[in-house]
Amino acid sequence: MQVNSFSNNHNGSSKSLFEVEVQAPANIALIKYWGKKGPQLPLNANCSLNLNQCFTTTKIKLIANANLAKSDQKVSIDYQFYNYKGELESSPHPRLLAFLENAKKDFPWMNQYTLQISSHNNFPHAAGIASSASAFAALALGLCLMELKLRPELDWTYEQIFQEASKLARTGSGSACRSLMSGLAVWGEHPLLSSPDKSSNEFAISHFKEKLEDTQHFFHQLMNVVLIVNTQKKSISSSIGHNSMQGHDFLENRLVPAQQHFTHLYESILSNNWINFGQIVEQEACSLHALMLTARPPYCLMHAHTLEIMQRIWLERSENKLPIYFTLDAGANVHLLYLKSDEARVKNFIENDIAEFLVEQKWIFNQTGMAPHFQWQRKDL
Ligand code: PMV
Repeated sequence: MQVNSFSNNHNGSSKSLFEVEVQAPANIALIKYWGKKGPQLPLNANCSLNLNQCFTTTKIKLIANANLAKSDQKVSIDYQFYNYKGELESSPHPRLLAFLENAKKDFPWMNQYTLQISSHNNFPHAAGIASSASAFAALALGLCLMELKLRPELDWTYEQIFQEASKLARTGSGSACRSLMSGLAVWGEHPLLSSPDKSSNEFAISHFKEKLEDTQHFFHQLMNVVLIVNTQKKSISSSIGHNSMQGHDFLENRLVPAQQHFTHLYESILSNNWINFGQIVEQEACSLHALMLTARPPYCLMHAHTLEIMQRIWLERSENKLPIYFTLDAGANVHLLYLKSDEARVKNFIENDIAEFLVEQKWIFNQTGMAPHFQWQRKDL
């Protein structure tokens, strides 16, 4: 985290204004969160890596309300969302309003202020990269920093700030809780990680952060490129997708293998085995889309070009021995995973074999797993 400016001399006057600026990354799931229970808790342990070139920057200003609002009144907000071209786009989404109303339960001070929120994505949010994850992660962290500012007696550690933010982000979009953790961000309980500081359903936890610095480990070299196949809004939202797991014929056949995929993925990182890692990641992505095809009613979020690209990746791997693997989220775009040492060959492969299937021949390169790059500023005027 980078602290750009910080001032701690709040004088308590009703004209005080606090401003926080936070930047949070999108993430790509390796073991997928698909199906939920209770208050947005995952059915299975899942994990992801942050994407350093796809992030949301959110500024929150608190402006004291002249009249104290009653606790049952709606949160007062003034919201602006700017797309990646810097154009002002939309009014607040009902999901955002519901998230803020829910946050008020933990942060009653939200009633005393108007929240001016201005949010900006540096990537096209129709690109099928989960922009809700970066957006809710940034907003949740901003609110937690405000909470600390207003209640300094909390005295949270650095880790606690992120844990609280992860918990809160989860209530907006489940996968958002992972965007607040570096290395392998793990969310959900798993027998392999039985101690409470290793896995939780309430928030995500960082694993293998140290491997990012280990030049002998494949994590140090792990890259992602998002191949943009479709920029249309998804025909099925992830909420409908999660719900389609209720009573799904293959529910049991999902939960056991999902936990096993998690175990094998975790072991592949422990043993520094890139090939096993890649194979599990691909198998997991194909399982996710098989669940969609076998839901009632069935649906398919892949595009003909998604399948074409998957097949070309398999061919490239078997014929030219290029060790590349893919994963898919709930959408048509393909996330290619490769090692930095293969970058020149990967670029060639994309340009020669894949580009023709991409919208406007677009792709976005990302380093993965890096520490979330948060910048925040707090001002007292
Ligand atoms: O967090 P949601 O509700 O947008 O669901 C995310 C679902 C997947 O992207 C398909 C999987 C995941 O774990 O990110």
